[in-house]
Amino acid sequence: MPPSQVVTRCTLTLRLAFHVQCNTLHPRHPGFWKMLPVAVWVALLGCLQAQELQEHVSIILLGATGDLAKKYLWQGLFQLYLDEAGKGHHFSFHGAALTAPEQGQEVLAKVLESLSCPKDVAPDRCAELKGQFQRLSQYRQLKTPEDYLALSKDMEALVQREGLREAGRIFYFSVPPFAYADIARSINSSCRPGPDAWLRVVLEKPFGHDYLSAQQLAEELGSFFQEEEMYRVDHYLGKQAVAQILPFRDQNRKALDGLWNRHHVERVEVVLKETLDAEGRTSFYEEYGVIRDVLQNHLTEILTLVAMELPHDASSSAAVLQHKLQAFQALRGLRRGSAVLGQYQAYSEQVRRELHKPDGFQSLTPTFAGILVHVDNLRWEGVPFILMSGKALDERVGYVRVLFKNRAFCAQSEKQWVGDRSRCLPQQIVFYIGHGELGSPAVLVSRTLFRPALPAGSWKELEARPEVRLFGRPLSDFYAYGPVREQDAYSTLISHIFHGRKDSFITTENLLASWVFWTPLLEGLAREAPRLYPGGAENGHLLDFEFRGSELAFCLQQPEQLVPGPGSAPPRPSDFQVLRATYRDSPLVAAWPEELIAKLADDIEAAAAKAVQRFGQFHLALSGGSSPVALFQQLAAGHYGFPWAHTHLWLVDERCVPPWDPESNFQGLQTHLLRHVWVPHYNVHPMPVHLRRRLCAEEDRGAQAYAEEISALVTNGSFDLVLLGMGTDGHTASLFPQSPTGLDGEQLVVLTESPVKPHHRMSLSLPLINRARKVAVLVMGKLKRDITLLVSRVGHQPKKWPISGILPDSGQLVWYMDYEAFLG
Ligand code: BG6
Repeated sequence: MPPSQVVTRCTLTLRLAFHVQCNTLHPRHPGFWKMLPVAVWVALLGCLQAQELQEHVSIILLGATGDLAKKYLWQGLFQLYLDEAGKGHHFSFHGAALTAPEQGQEVLAKVLESLSCPKDVAPDRCAELKGQFQRLSQYRQLKTPEDYLALSKDMEALVQREGLREAGRIFYFSVPPFAYADIARSINSSCRPGPDAWLRVVLEKPFGHDYLSAQQLAEELGSFFQEEEMYRVDHYLGKQAVAQILPFRDQNRKALDGLWNRHHVERVEVVLKETLDAEGRTSFYEEYGVIRDVLQNHLTEILTLVAMELPHDASSSAAVLQHKLQAFQALRGLRRGSAVLGQYQAYSEQVRRELHKPDGFQSLTPTFAGILVHVDNLRWEGVPFILMSGKALDERVGYVRVLFKNRAFCAQSEKQWVGDRSRCLPQQIVFYIGHGELGSPAVLVSRTLFRPALPAGSWKELEARPEVRLFGRPLSDFYAYGPVREQDAYSTLISHIFHGRKDSFITTENLLASWVFWTPLLEGLAREAPRLYPGGAENGHLLDFEFRGSELAFCLQQPEQLVPGPGSAPPRPSDFQVLRATYRDSPLVAAWPEELIAKLADDIEAAAAKAVQRFGQFHLALSGGSSPVALFQQLAAGHYGFPWAHTHLWLVDERCVPPWDPESNFQGLQTHLLRHVWVPHYNVHPMPVHLRRRLCAEEDRGAQAYAEEISALVTNGSFDLVLLGMGTDGHTASLFPQSPTGLDGEQLVVLTESPVKPHHRMSLSLPLINRARKVAVLVMGKLKRDITLLVSRVGHQPKKWPISGILPDSGQLVWYMDYEAFLG
């Protein structure tokens, strides 16, 4: 409060106190002087209290008459009022929408009437509190920038009139994302509070449709608001069991230290099953589907809370974010085989009806998905994380279940175990999000593990419920805790927003990291026909799935179609054989990415088997970068017959960075292949870019040393197979346009300069590559379309396009291109 207002307020309260004093007692009355100090005290208290009571917060709910607002947000705001008004906070609530004032006011009045108080508030008191809240809540039509300006003026006037201090404004966007930009612009230009008050804007998903759209939206919003002003809601982070994951890991560090890792965890399941379907929401759902609706956000957030390294200070949002981002980086890229998809049978009909589609229309949007995720770090290597969600399933339940390995074998039958905690029982930790058998949130730890510590004031042990069975076990198998006071997710999050607690919200970096992870899979699945399922209990075992290697597959074969559906749609191009043609007069294999990678991996395995049979060993030189990652994963996962023990692995090129640097090609090979297959370490030949703690120093003669190693081990310097890529500028290996190094001459290995960072590279030379028995060039993605077209037309011009210099002396060259690179 400005000092002048403080003075005015205090003078007023002092005058009031003396006025009361003088009107009740005459100065000559003996009690007058006795009571004077009391009056002064009362006045000062009043003055202080007045000062404390003066903070005012305006909350503007945009989309105030929409579904989310009606169902959760108004109730959450009411809860905030109940929790905070008594602590001296002043509020005004503005329900805003495009609806005309009278109509809007009517809807709002109904919503406010339906609000409820917590169970422990008596009905009379509840009615009184509701009345107060209703008086503070008004409807406003907000359409134009002028409307926002008028709102701002009104808020300022209110604060002035009441002699309050404006603490801040919260704008809650409960509107479709296409409306975000206009509203954001209006708020930024006309509705920001004064310099001493904060602004918080709350955003609801969807935050984009894929990486690019999310990035665009983030950039757009970033031009109006600071990062710290934005609160992106993922309401699952407000669910009590989810919010407890990190505190639980923190409070039970000692017990979990040895357990929370690949040696002990069998698998992690993150599950959200729903019984409702998408009827009435198909205009949204048809565009998003289950992965974008639930997995990319809610389930991924939960996954990272389980998988991330626990910061020393688990309450620091900066540290949590940093560790979360690291967890994202460790997620292994998803492939088409990482997913199984389903669609409830009535879905297409609902879409046809609600979206006025023609009779024959069959949607490909999945309403069910199971995804297998791997976290490639030391803690989680090899542990499957299963994410699963679907509509129209047999039950509604959400949970995260960490299932531990069980090495015990019990000789005695279960009947004899009474009162005994047998080591044979499943060992698990479950964060039970809600619904299901328990019907409420809970944290459960198998009694054979340890007795957990939970925050005493807010979590309590659950009472015995003999009728409840979880994952086939009675509740008594667990130490089971539930929240003392259940609170819905939105109320929790609204309270966090009010208190400026950013740790329960999605930052831009976090959001983009999630889209980086999901976008390739979503693109790969865009034309995939989901398996149809009848819905509810009738689904039987139709949607059960299992992992085979690093792939997921339904346990049951596709049954006869129940009705003609997407599964019976005409075959897509990917159902055909790979396309064979020529490119630059050499064989070309073109296919969808998965088939392409599968074909290349098969061809490499065939070449390996042949070489080992003939010469006893196979010399394979591999490129780095992103395209071969899927190939490495494929080789690691599905090629059990590969003669790894007789394979020598060489690098085609390397960046001049230390071997532990994530940019290092060797590091990529290590992460995606070497960790998963057994290649004798003396058969692995990283490029010596890091010698004497220096990077690619000429005088260390690393390139010469590599050339000597090749000459010593590879007959005639002729690799059995060299895998290359093609850059958008026509570079291959680390041989770049307009740079003469390595394009001809005697040198087998050279140091080169790249136009992009890291600039210094080591590379096999063109003459050495051309000595290979087979050269495979892998080209993937639409970014390669232009160069693919260009290179198809140019002659032998390695100085301009080094890739055009690939002409094996006596070996074979084969191009492997996905349709995006080849056809655009
Ligand atoms: C929403 C999805 O984010 O989460 C819905 O859009 C889904 O499709 C809902 O039903 C599930 O949330 P809850 O809180 O009902 O479990």
